[in-house]
Amino acid sequence: MACAFWLSTSLDSRNSIIALTTATRNIRNVFFGQSCLAYVGELNRLGYINVLIRHFFTPATNTPLKANIVLLPGDGIGPEIIAQAQRVLETVAKSFGHQFEFNSHMIGGISIDTCGDPLPQETIDACRDSDAILLGAVGGPKWDDPSAKTRPEVGLLKIRKELGLFANLRPIRLFDELLDASPLRRDIIEGTDILFLRELTGGIYFGESGTSGSGQAESAYQSMVYSVGEVERIIRLAAKAAQGRGNRLTSVDKANVLEPSRWWRRVAARVMQEEFPDVQYDVVLVDAMAMHLINRPSDFDVVVTGNMFGDILTDEASMLPGSLGMLPSASLGSDGPGLYEPIHGSAPDIAGQEIANPLATILASAMLLRHSLGLEAEATAIESAVQRVLSDGLRTRDIARGGEAIGTESMGSAVVERLTV
Ligand code: NAD
Ligand code: IPM
Ligand code: MN
Repeated sequence: MACAFWLSTSLDSRNSIIALTTATRNIRNVFFGQSCLAYVGELNRLGYINVLIRHFFTPATNTPLKANIVLLPGDGIGPEIIAQAQRVLETVAKSFGHQFEFNSHMIGGISIDTCGDPLPQETIDACRDSDAILLGAVGGPKWDDPSAKTRPEVGLLKIRKELGLFANLRPIRLFDELLDASPLRRDIIEGTDILFLRELTGGIYFGESGTSGSGQAESAYQSMVYSVGEVERIIRLAAKAAQGRGNRLTSVDKANVLEPSRWWRRVAARVMQEEFPDVQYDVVLVDAMAMHLINRPSDFDVVVTGNMFGDILTDEASMLPGSLGMLPSASLGSDGPGLYEPIHGSAPDIAGQEIANPLATILASAMLLRHSLGLEAEATAIESAVQRVLSDGLRTRDIARGGEAIGTESMGSAVVERLTV
């Protein structure tokens, strides 16, 4: 299946902000009238390649679909959680009459051990040829030597860059059933529903780095660089996402200190003023944002920020729903396959014990169906099954808060059972 995507704004689901539908899918009732084409032209002028507003077509949810899904289990708990997400996707395929082909490839530490490279070319090629990618996690103490030739994390950064996945969507969704699993008080977190858009292929993560000097003067550096184009495209996407939900956008930076942040702020302000005057827009400094997330999380709608701030703030925000083990993410580009993963890492402290929470990865597989395959009903079926598992009182250790807990595979089975009844 070819992998051209239509990037579109979904207007109909709390969690579904950007919907990507493969161009090769059967799309019924496509309206290719004059005004539609003019609109697409306008979006392209604004920098949205292949952008189509979703309400111009009705997704053919009852049309059988063939999809090639690449699995990148990686390290630590990666293989354990990917196995459960694969079972869930297989169940969905069976119930809805789709054909999903799964191909596993290497990334991260295991790949370094096998071939000396955290992202071999064959993995990149397989990802490019796929319809969507589901990743577990990379890294672990075995590969942590700071003077090692390469690191597992290099593989993850490289696949994001190679595929142009500049937008990382991290929805912070609370399940009512888990309100008491959060370390924060119920009255503080109730009503929280934030969509983070983390810029993923620029900033300090990809700036020039190195060492210089010698002796006491020897030093290391890494630059933070953002171009106009990089800021514009993520701000536009975030603003579109805001229009599809609460119409409020917060941009987070460190403009009181960092030049690239002042630059980000200027570009963002211009885009918002010229193109999205209807969206309620504000800016917050990252240190203050760290506090607001704990103090008044329900005040935020869509939050857009750079690569490093987004990484840190979303791990912090994971404590709102109660556990890193509950948070999925989608990394999207302007075309090509999307990459879906939990926001957590390889959790080496619990790897191999079958106690990891697979729900973040299972929820990431729902995002995959929605955003890369356009299968809204199927995605919702997974999310409802997860909801039912939680309302039936089933918990892995991280969300059990000392109560009775089930293992990784049992949690996967519980979701599968609720998908099939
Ligand atoms: P981590 O996210 O792996 O773990 C942080 C804590 O959360 C640990 O106590 C862990 O047990 C717990 N946790 C994480 N996921 C869980 C789950 N599904 N169920 C239950 N508990 C869970 O972060 P870390 O320990 O700082 O990093 C470990 C390794 O993972 C590092 O090498 C890091 O680079 C890597 N990492 C990878 C990714 C990724 O692949 N996307 C993301 C973050 C960290
Ligand atoms: C994440 C991770 C990665 C990041 C690491 C493992 C490279 O923390 O996906 O959040 O910093 O982006
Ligand atoms: Mn992270």
